Amino acid sequence: MHYGGVIFDLDGVIADTARFHYEAWKKLADELGIYFDKKTNERLKGIGRMESLDIILENSNISYTLEQKKYYAEKKNEYYKQFIQTLTPDDVLPGVKELMEILKRKGIKTAVASASKNAPTVLNKLGIASEFDYIVDASRIRKGKPDPELFLTAAINIGVEPSECIGIEDSAAGIEAIKRAGMFAVGVGDPKILKKADMVLKDLKDYGKIVDIICENITINNDRIFIVTDGKGNIKEDRYGLFYKDTRFLSKYDLEIDGKKPKLSKITSEKNFLKEISIEYKEDDNDRILQMYRKSFIYENTFYESFVLKNCGLKTEIANVTLDLDADFKDIFDVRGFAGGIYGSKPGVQREARQVVFEYTGLDGVLRKTTVQFNQDARYEKNKVVFMAELPPNKVFTFEVHVNVTVGNEKKATTLDFYEGLKTVEKSFNEWSMECAEVITDNERFNSLYKRSIEDLRSLLLNYEGYRIPAAGIPWFAVPFGRDSIVCAVQSLMINPGIARDVLLLAAKYQGLKLDGRSEEEPGKIFHEIREGEFTNTGMVPFGPYYGTHDATPLFLVLLHKYYKWTGDIEFLRKMLPAAEKALEWVISYGDRDNDGFLEYMRADEKGFTNQGWKDSEDSVRASDGKIASPPIALAEIQGYAYDAYMGMAELYKILKDTDPGNIKDKVEALKNKAAALRRNFHKAFWMEDKKYFAEALDRNKRQVDSITSNPGHCLWSGIIDGVYAKYVADRLISPEMFSGWGIRTMSSKEAAYDPESYHNGSVWPHDNSLIALGFSRYGFWEHLKVVFDALLEASAGFHGRLPELFCGYDKRERPLTQYPVACSPQAWAAASPFALLEAILGIRVDAQKGIVSLDPTLPDSINHITVKRMRVGEKLYDFEVERKNGKVEYSFKKGA
Ligand code: G6P
Ligand code: MG
Repeated sequence: MHYGGVIFDLDGVIADTARFHYEAWKKLADELGIYFDKKTNERLKGIGRMESLDIILENSNISYTLEQKKYYAEKKNEYYKQFIQTLTPDDVLPGVKELMEILKRKGIKTAVASASKNAPTVLNKLGIASEFDYIVDASRIRKGKPDPELFLTAAINIGVEPSECIGIEDSAAGIEAIKRAGMFAVGVGDPKILKKADMVLKDLKDYGKIVDIICENITINNDRIFIVTDGKGNIKEDRYGLFYKDTRFLSKYDLEIDGKKPKLSKITSEKNFLKEISIEYKEDDNDRILQMYRKSFIYENTFYESFVLKNCGLKTEIANVTLDLDADFKDIFDVRGFAGGIYGSKPGVQREARQVVFEYTGLDGVLRKTTVQFNQDARYEKNKVVFMAELPPNKVFTFEVHVNVTVGNEKKATTLDFYEGLKTVEKSFNEWSMECAEVITDNERFNSLYKRSIEDLRSLLLNYEGYRIPAAGIPWFAVPFGRDSIVCAVQSLMINPGIARDVLLLAAKYQGLKLDGRSEEEPGKIFHEIREGEFTNTGMVPFGPYYGTHDATPLFLVLLHKYYKWTGDIEFLRKMLPAAEKALEWVISYGDRDNDGFLEYMRADEKGFTNQGWKDSEDSVRASDGKIASPPIALAEIQGYAYDAYMGMAELYKILKDTDPGNIKDKVEALKNKAAALRRNFHKAFWMEDKKYFAEALDRNKRQVDSITSNPGHCLWSGIIDGVYAKYVADRLISPEMFSGWGIRTMSSKEAAYDPESYHNGSVWPHDNSLIALGFSRYGFWEHLKVVFDALLEASAGFHGRLPELFCGYDKRERPLTQYPVACSPQAWAAASPFALLEAILGIRVDAQKGIVSLDPTLPDSINHITVKRMRVGEKLYDFEVERKNGKVEYSFKKGA
């Protein structure tokens, strides 16, 4: 179901004013000598003033005239008004503001539907009146709760269908009103009293559950195409669509039956490449029940969907099935709201009996085309395709739709038969699983997370210029990303080193050649991202490719070194050497702009990214007092990557010494010296003796940016930190200020800038955790490692067995697991995190060239047994088992080693 509006009750939901109503009534009842208790009060909640008085007077023998009643009701109101004088903005109940903020960000309308005539005063005192799109004026309402009028009035005024609204109430009468209005009812309080609610929360601190319902959308992605629909499989609002190469090829794809809204919809199966939804259309006034089953997948530039409509009623039905279609060819940056829209010609449409073609030529001169084909004849009503179905009882009407997309002179893919296509996709996913290492443990949760991760990774692999490159994430980053693709490849070495090979090749292919301020290209630099939508092609956004990243280049070298360790592929290494040397040259020259030995960044162009490490939001580098640091910025973790790159290149040069024996020796020594100097200086400049931790960064004056963050955690992974210092870092990372219970936060909860709902200042990122876990493993911090492993594994259960890009950093003891509302899912380096976590706990060290595969495993409490099959090191595949026996961890290789 898709929701567009949330309607709040006031008393007892937004503020704890229900107790003031009680106190006021109690005072009046005492004066009148009438018995009144909390039980009777429960019946007053949500009920208007006069009706409330009537309920109280049920306990009195005296009959009151209307005049008297008005007098007493007014008296109660005077008492009540005194109570509410004390209200301040601090009285807004916990969770309300957080929820409101998320709703606003998601474009969901909000309203207050309160029976209280004091509502405007209360909301003003609370300082949030202007936050709502509409507040129902209770004095104009004829019927109070449980009548739906209040909620229906709110829905009309925010312009959202009642069926697409969620109502939040603390009273039984209010819940009844919401249900009668045909809305989804969320109760706040006692489930016994709020029996009729669709969902009951203890309080709004638990608002994440409401966000979950609202955010329900379905994404399927395969290679370059992805589709995001609402929970019914439709594309209606601006945030949905079918996308290809940074462009929206379908902006409307909305199914209706006789213009009716469905009663129920259920996602029956959801995989990366496939979704199945069952939808029921039921009319209460007659016995018509129609059931629709939608099944869809993506294969080779085509989105396939099959529709099966079944008549579950007793008489023959005629149904008009309509599909509203449109293609706006908007650039993804416009859909995201990042850049405004200047476009080429208006899209053209051609309609034939069995197909609709949308065509658009952009300002870049590129023709983009969406071809929608049906396997049944259709007629048209404006933009709608109409199928007529005559359905005797128990009979079905079926049709299929294929949506093919092309850019420029791409050839239209041949459309396969629906089931043949589906089988081909399934087969390709199975083949991918077989290509990867198989991992089975005695922990079902881990097993399904692992399986899902393998599938996520497969669906994110772009066929990009002949290379298989993991896209960073769906929906916003469905393109090659220097940093993300490289990190994902590092994390995936153990399960499939082939990813790394293609990432290295593509990164080298697009390695910077010249100096360009706008795109931040520099000789030897590795790209940040490569886009190819209209805005990119016309230069409206600088992403074709963009080079504003300071870590991708050292990470490229780190990956090359690790890839070599896993494969021993000397031919490949030789082939990559020129690119590696250019990258190394960049690290030493352009990377270190002031020649102080540290790598620091400052954007070359106003439109470029302010921050060019992985925490790339504008406010991600902040001192303990919350002040934003000024560039040039030298991030802690990038010094670590550079150290690792120097050490790795020194080793690679040593291996390559037969290519250029004279020169190489000097290079090895020079790089080792450079690494040692960087290590020394890093400790000197970044270590904060008073805080016993490393600074997040150095600012323009080489002053420490002194927040406690996860950044130095990456330095454990890189190995730049000396032993004693490493212990301080590791301990701090799993202490309560950094560890939320679900993972390590990006920033300590003690910092001024800490915000558990921010992108980089307190949220939890699985990939960040996984690199730190590899660091724990490198230094032998096994206990620390187990804690992180178990936390993330548990968190995955809260996200349907998947790790998202990030989630909120709230303390586990205080709040349930809360999703970050606009996190990408799947996200490559989140999907690959379980692989890195696994590598960490297995303590794997490999040297393919020497045929060394060693394990130093530890097992988290949640796992007693791990079987790994087909782990590729060099040309060999290894099978092994790790087991906890009598409290001790043992392992054995099956073959190969
Ligand atoms: C809300 C409260 C009731 C109250 C009613 C009228 O619905 O839950 O307890 O009686 O508003 O409030 P008023 O402030 O107009 O008396
Ligand atoms: Mg209430």
